[in-house]
Amino acid sequence: MESISDDLKEVDKIICDQLNSEVALVRTIGEYIVNSGGKRIRPSMVIIIALSLGYEGSKHHLLAAIIEFIHTATLLHDDVVDESELRRGLNSANSIFGNAASVLVGDYLYSKSFEMMVSTDSLRIMEILSKTTTIIAEGEVLQLMNIKDPDVSLDSYMRVVRFKTAKLFEASAHVGAIIAGANLDQENNASAYGRHIGTSFQLIDDILDYSGDSAILGKNIGDDLKEGKPTLPLIRAMKVCSKKQRVVLRNAIISGNADLEDVINIVKDTDALAYTTKVAENEAKEAQKSVLNYPCSKYKEILIELPFLFLNRIS
Ligand code: IPE
Ligand code: IPE
Ligand code: MG
Ligand code: MG
Repeated sequence: MESISDDLKEVDKIICDQLNSEVALVRTIGEYIVNSGGKRIRPSMVIIIALSLGYEGSKHHLLAAIIEFIHTATLLHDDVVDESELRRGLNSANSIFGNAASVLVGDYLYSKSFEMMVSTDSLRIMEILSKTTTIIAEGEVLQLMNIKDPDVSLDSYMRVVRFKTAKLFEASAHVGAIIAGANLDQENNASAYGRHIGTSFQLIDDILDYSGDSAILGKNIGDDLKEGKPTLPLIRAMKVCSKKQRVVLRNAIISGNADLEDVINIVKDTDALAYTTKVAENEAKEAQKSVLNYPCSKYKEILIELPFLFLNRIS
């Protein structure tokens, strides 16, 4: 994302400035996670949408930093919940500093993001972002309720994806449109763009948990299965595999301690990964469609390319 690299530098400046807590451990963990090299996808979304709609001010940098703080807070909490040991190619914050410190610094980042939101002076933006954080939390709880349940439906799974991941992408695109002074149509299209690209992004993430390379991905493979998390690759595999294979998969989800190799072999023996890719591809196409009537610009071109770039991502 060459054309917004200066904007992202500004965003990083704000992020660093805002990690100025007097409490040393807050700074240590905050800096550890923020400097660990996240892809900054959601801040990029705010910026590209705003620029594609002709925005010329600098508020998009602050909004992008707020969104990255929210994202980082969800990661700190998520790694505790998922007992994940690797994040962005490094030991996760929880594995270094412990669960309590991770949860509390996650809370700090959430609170900080709200403090920053107030300075946007926009009640609409505050409304959107506060609703978003509520929905992300609901998504994580919903997912917790689905854990170790081999009968989770496709609908229930998709709801989790929309809530825990797509909602923040949706909000990023939406607030980008709002500060650019978009009309209602353009706003709705931005939201739809974010929702679809975010859904697609999570589906690919779920595939990578079965087929990715841990060293490139920066996260451990097989974490979803270890937690007994029925994601789309497993839900699909259970639907189309043999009876004998189904018993193995169901037990794997219920027990959470199955042999990863066995499960991967069954998943790969079915069309589950191709099927999940197809669903992700449809979401990517929907994302593209949402911005077709945006004014022509190099930023619009990025918006059109991005969903398909994400489909092929390996990290
Ligand atoms: C990780 O998101 C969480 C998911 C929604 C899968 P990213 O892959 O955008 O995380 P970073 O910020 O680049 O590490
Ligand atoms: C992603 O959660 C969404 C949030 C962090 C809220 P996951 O548990 O699916 O993502 P990874 O694999 O840990 O990044
Ligand atoms: Mg996780
Ligand atoms: Mg999780």
